[in-house]
Amino acid sequence: MDAIKVQPLVVNYKTLEEFKRFKEYGNQELSMLEDLQNNIIENNSTSPFFGIYYGSALIARMSLYKVPSKYNYYFEPRDEYLELWKLEVLPDYQKQGYGEMLVEFAKGYRLPIKTNPRVNSHGFWERMGFDKLSYDMERDLGENPLGWRPTGVEEQNAS
Ligand SMILES: CC(C)(COP(=O)(O)OP(=O)(O)OC[C@H]1O[C@@H](n2cnc3c(N)ncnc32)[C@H](O)[C@@H]1OP(=O)(O)O)[C@@H](O)C(=O)NCCC(=O)NCCS
Repeated sequence: MDAIKVQPLVVNYKTLEEFKRFKEYGNQELSMLEDLQNNIIENNSTSPFFGIYYGSALIARMSLYKVPSKYNYYFEPRDEYLELWKLEVLPDYQKQGYGEMLVEFAKGYRLPIKTNPRVNSHGFWERMGFDKLSYDMERDLGENPLGWRPTGVEEQNAS
């Protein structure tokens, strides 16, 4: 079996079928499927997802977007940052380090990371060195964002 590692996930029918096993399956996946069916994107286009395969099975994944600096309302300096979401490890594979492997991969870009955690996962994020970003009513409506900052990056003052 290949060494277990984080890899970019391509958009194809096989990947989208694998995505159905994850709880956080929704509009993002459905719109990728539609784009594929309508030939708007090619089979094997790169997706914003990264994942871990165990043998031929996708067992963990996350979506990771680079947000342009002009939309950076969170970190100082106002450079680009990463938005991490849909981090999920399939139940049989939890607590074996795969979640951490994905987060470490994201940290490897040396950009600040923002995430909006699921209920009950705060302990994990704390363990990964993520802090609560101060809550800004207009900016954060419906979210309780957490952030990780590489050295030299601060949180923007929430207005
Ligand atoms: C939250 C999630 C992404 C973590 O991934 P994982 O692969 O299970 O976590 P890891 O094995 O990489 O854990 C890394 C560290 O975080 C800790 N940790 C993991 N989940 C935790 C949790 N819910 N609370 C506190 N600590 C947690 C681990 O014990 C480990 O610490 P250690 O290095 O001291 O042993 C994964 O469990 C998941 O997808 N869960 C889906 C459901 C969910 O959100 N559950 C939350 C708990 S109900």
